[in-house]
Amino acid sequence: RWAYVDGVFVPFASAAVPLEDRGLEFSESLYEVVAVINGKPFRLADHVERMLQGARELGLQEGVPPLARWQHVVADLWARERFDSAILYAQLTGGTAAREHLPGQRKKPLFFAYLRPFTFPAPSLIAQGIAAVTVPEMRWQRRDIKTTMLLPAVLAKQQARQKGAQEAIFVGQDGYVNEGASSNVCVVRSGVVASPPPGERLLEGVTLKAVSELCAELGLPFHRRWVSLSDLKGADEVFIASTTTLIMPVVRLDGQLVGGGKPGPITLRLAYHFQKLFT
Ligand code: PDD
Repeated sequence: RWAYVDGVFVPFASAAVPLEDRGLEFSESLYEVVAVINGKPFRLADHVERMLQGARELGLQEGVPPLARWQHVVADLWARERFDSAILYAQLTGGTAAREHLPGQRKKPLFFAYLRPFTFPAPSLIAQGIAAVTVPEMRWQRRDIKTTMLLPAVLAKQQARQKGAQEAIFVGQDGYVNEGASSNVCVVRSGVVASPPPGERLLEGVTLKAVSELCAELGLPFHRRWVSLSDLKGADEVFIASTTTLIMPVVRLDGQLVGGGKPGPITLRLAYHFQKLFT
């Protein structure tokens, strides 16, 4: 296996990040996860644009390779590994400097990427749906930036697993839903698909954007609006959307059945069409 680190391809096993990398020590670091099917990245430009936006917030924008470079990296890695289905994991860090919160002299940002074989959810799993639990929001205030500060997401997913669920959904102190630990959340009510509004409360998903476009094509109304906890629990249908889960029905929430415990027709329709886009 291979990795792309700081401009060169190196064997995966010997690829390494220095101990004083600022991503490692301060989480001064952004990441992207891109679906790669038969060598073809799904909506790569959207991922690159999102990393660039985050990098501007962190002052690391000069470290984000241009789109053409990403395309080259994916093509080169894929030519070496030829996984049928994989994710591209890419990370940009603040680079190496003597350990101080504000380093006197900062090195240039570090960018690395690699392909990992990945099995996306099969239609049979999508037809079944998953269980989710809600958890109080415990992350920072800029969830629109895709940083590697993922400890709250890991802890929330541990809580989910302990309760036999596959995803945790963060709910703010105000009682409104933000997003999943690694996904966006959508509800369906009376034929209308809705997801919480874009902003600093949540990460704007590449998959969610595809969902909104799909809704437009299928003539389904799609709204960005606040979703309260009771709104979520009383929805006709609930689904999550992310690079790794695709469009996945949620059929159980905090132990209660959603929509009778079966994926709803609109979710399944979106999931079906999404899969066609994707493969
Ligand atoms: N997570 N919200 C959060 C908090 C996420 O971590 C993710 C993705 C999304 C969905 O974004 P997208 O559709 O662009 O994948 C929303 C990735 C898959 C991860 O952390 O593994």
